Amino acid sequence: MSASSDQQVLVAAQGTAPTTHAQLAAWVQEVSALTQPSSVYWVDGSQEENDRLAAELVDGGTFVRLNDELFPHSFAAFSDPKDVARVEERTFICSKEEKDAGFTNNWMDPAEMKAILTDRFTGSMRGRTMYVIPFVMGPLDAEQPQYGVEITDSAYVVVSMRIMARIGTDVLRKMEAEKAFFVPALHSVGAPLEPGKADVPWPCNDEKWIVHFPEERAIWSYGSGYGGNALLGKKCYALRIASAIARDEGWLAEHMLLLKLTSPEGKAYNVAAAFPSACGKTNLALLTPTVEGWKAETLGDDINWMRIGKEGELRGVNPEYGLFGVAPGTGWSTNPNAMRAIAKGNSVFTNVALTDDGGVWWEGMTDEVPAHLTDWQGNDWTPESGSPAAHPNSRFCTPISQVDMLAPEYYSPDGVEIHAILFGGRRKTTIPLVTEARSWTNGIFMGATLSSETTAAAAGALGVLRRDPMAMLPFIGYNAGDYLNHWDSIAAKANPERLPKIFLVNWFRRTPEGGFAWPGFGDNSRVLKWAIERIEGKADAVETPIGFVPTGDSIDLDGLEDFTPADVEVAVRVDHEEWKTELASIEEWFAGFGEALPQSLKDELAGLDERLGA
Ligand code: GTP
Ligand code: MN
Ligand code: MN
Repeated sequence: MSASSDQQVLVAAQGTAPTTHAQLAAWVQEVSALTQPSSVYWVDGSQEENDRLAAELVDGGTFVRLNDELFPHSFAAFSDPKDVARVEERTFICSKEEKDAGFTNNWMDPAEMKAILTDRFTGSMRGRTMYVIPFVMGPLDAEQPQYGVEITDSAYVVVSMRIMARIGTDVLRKMEAEKAFFVPALHSVGAPLEPGKADVPWPCNDEKWIVHFPEERAIWSYGSGYGGNALLGKKCYALRIASAIARDEGWLAEHMLLLKLTSPEGKAYNVAAAFPSACGKTNLALLTPTVEGWKAETLGDDINWMRIGKEGELRGVNPEYGLFGVAPGTGWSTNPNAMRAIAKGNSVFTNVALTDDGGVWWEGMTDEVPAHLTDWQGNDWTPESGSPAAHPNSRFCTPISQVDMLAPEYYSPDGVEIHAILFGGRRKTTIPLVTEARSWTNGIFMGATLSSETTAAAAGALGVLRRDPMAMLPFIGYNAGDYLNHWDSIAAKANPERLPKIFLVNWFRRTPEGGFAWPGFGDNSRVLKWAIERIEGKADAVETPIGFVPTGDSIDLDGLEDFTPADVEVAVRVDHEEWKTELASIEEWFAGFGEALPQSLKDELAGLDERLGA
């Protein structure tokens, strides 16, 4: 092994488990010298260790242990009210050159940023334990395992990372044996504990920095304990850094769920779907089909890494190990699969409400609203309180292995072939329930112009319409124009016969009366059935200027009460006036890219303009 004996001695002298991985040993050494923790602890990932950390978190007031009969081995945490979501305006892509971050990202010169962060991280772990978490995104037996090491001063992060990623000694040993590259992911809550000072349940800092160095493949996160900002394997690595790696290596790291569907004839289809945060990925990934004879199995609910396979087919892998799902709206009636997985326990809930019998509750979990709760801020709550009991972005964090409908292929390092790609957003108007793209390039245009009303998943105003290309706006680790060019280049590497069909969906359209134009949730299986029947050349469609939409009677409505083909026609209507407005908005969006916009997308826009007519 290449670690110098000096380094081993240094690490061992600090009371830490030595590693033979020279770069890792050196980095741990460097970070502990900078952050000055009271101790360094190497996370082994065992159950025993997890129990110990959870007990410490209970003692420290971060965790509330839930009633074991209701939620075995599960805990609730309550964050600082100012630390409840991703902070996009504090998220930076620090490429060497500003143009490589592009107009959709915040940028700062890497040296300047490092100077600021070095200042903030100096002594930031004083009085705390520094945890070293070796992890791998995707299966450890992948051809090229994607390693990372997170250093954090938060035990909440350690316990949550153990659910969300494969962590611990097995990973470390393989990383050492391969002398493998790993993404260094540094996290501090930014709340040093001075001697004699009591800790708070949720330490964090009002100043937050979520920073990525794409060329170095490094992450520095400061000041927040919230999942998306602190569990660095997830958005920071598996999307932002991985998207930059993927661009360089010719693959795609996407904000997508992965779902396997089997038709009544026994034919399997894998669907990947990109929807912005809090727009229905986890719900669709755990869908119970309401349509006769169709079976659904979960592969992933948030992130999909896609590569071109040996036969030129597009293949997808879910690099995560758990679900980090939006709690509100996840209920026994809308998503029983998620509820069954959660009820098996081993979960961490953040910012949900507590029931009087030691369980958790959130809006939409049950049809019946409890008469009394403790809300996410610790106040007594009754249905008359007039505020939500759970924070709108409260989350459950649950091992994906607990999902009964998990597809066996989830564990396959080669992933699955993708047969259909869905792009979708939250739009009250304009966007039909489902539209089939005219071609692969037209589908990329649909993705590139995807739009949605903002949700509580990120800090900021709610319900504001914004363009969110491929649902990746907050997660593209480089220039968004280069990103669209990268998507545009994939077809040339693939077998054109095996390219998935692309569809644009919108579960959130409203009728003129104001209600949802489509029942959604399990009934989305009816839309998926139509999409697959389009692949099979069986279902009817109408050609419109924006693509192919279902005829009123081509969506299977069997068993769906009070919903008629006429209602389908309302849900899929292409309104000419709305689309003229949309076109202007797309033109404005595309103008932001300048020269970086692929010619193919300019052509698509011109084609749409022409088809919409004057
Ligand atoms: P992230 O995990 O933040 O990336 O979000 P997500 O895309 O996984 O969103 P999720 O599935 O958690 O859904 C968020 C919200 O959308 C929940 O409040 C759901 O109740 C609601 N929702 C999901 N699917 C549907 C649907 O088909 N129809 C309607 N009307 N609402 C839905
Ligand atoms: Mn997400
Ligand atoms: Mn989700």
